[in-house]
Amino acid sequence: MNANTTRVIAVANEKGGVGKTVTVINLGAALVREGKQVLIIDMDPQANATKGVGFEVEDGQLSIYDLIKEPDAHQVDDLVASTQWEGLYLIPSHVDLAGAEIELVDVEGRENRLRKVCKNLSKNFDYILLDTPPSLSLLTVNVMVYAREVLVPCQTQPYAYAALEELFDTIEAINEEINPNLRVTGIVATFFDKRTRISQNIFEKLKDNEKYGPLLFDTVIRTNTTIAESAEVGKPVLFYRSGSYGAKDYLKLARELIDKGAP
Ligand SMILES: Nc1ncnc2c1ncn2[C@@H]1O[C@H](COP(=O)(O)OP(=O)(O)O)[C@@H](O)[C@H]1O
Ligand SMILES: [Mg+2]
Repeated sequence: MNANTTRVIAVANEKGGVGKTVTVINLGAALVREGKQVLIIDMDPQANATKGVGFEVEDGQLSIYDLIKEPDAHQVDDLVASTQWEGLYLIPSHVDLAGAEIELVDVEGRENRLRKVCKNLSKNFDYILLDTPPSLSLLTVNVMVYAREVLVPCQTQPYAYAALEELFDTIEAINEEINPNLRVTGIVATFFDKRTRISQNIFEKLKDNEKYGPLLFDTVIRTNTTIAESAEVGKPVLFYRSGSYGAKDYLKLARELIDKGAP
């Protein structure tokens, strides 16, 4: 049973390449550094969050795909893997998950599957972070039906606004139709580079925006190649180069998220 105190947070943005996966991995690690018990659930068939914490599901091994496809055939607890970092756990993804959308097309309650299986998690996590694919697929809907909070990485680049509009429309629709409890915890500016005017401009625009401004985290995630490097070698940046900007920014974000509390 999940205690009420577990914060279940979807990291979402319908645009790709904005830093969703990297945020899941590194915010997860930073929360662990702050003494929290953290479960990452990788709901993206690309499985980059899985790889980012040093995992790979071999053919024949179970992944989130099996839980979604045949929820009654498996125990969710059996899918929770420990990582090499104490306090950080993972339910891994696999490319097969890409087929779930089609395979479940005629199944009643298909958007409810993740929530149902996660009800049976027996460990009491402080945070559950969910990585999502860059599209409004059945997988993203499953995540938004289960989650209580959405954290939105927003790239400080042109067109960032268009993606935010789409995401907020989606959240509104989910609120109306299936999960009235879903709230946006915050928007975090990513790929921030103070030397470029565009980064500054987008950040200022977000801050001044009536809807987005109050949701904007003070913490920004700077562009930092160590982040990309650490993801490549399958380690959160905090456990790879603890002195890097990336490590510092995600630690700051974790503290701000803790202080902010659930919306
Ligand atoms: N702050 C950052 N600085 C440098 N590279 C980053 C940063 N955040 C993400 N990346 C890199 O950019 C790419 C896209 O990030 P990712 O988290 O995979 O985006 P998404 O999950 O939204 O598609 C990845 O190669 C990742 O390593
Ligand atoms: Mg991703």
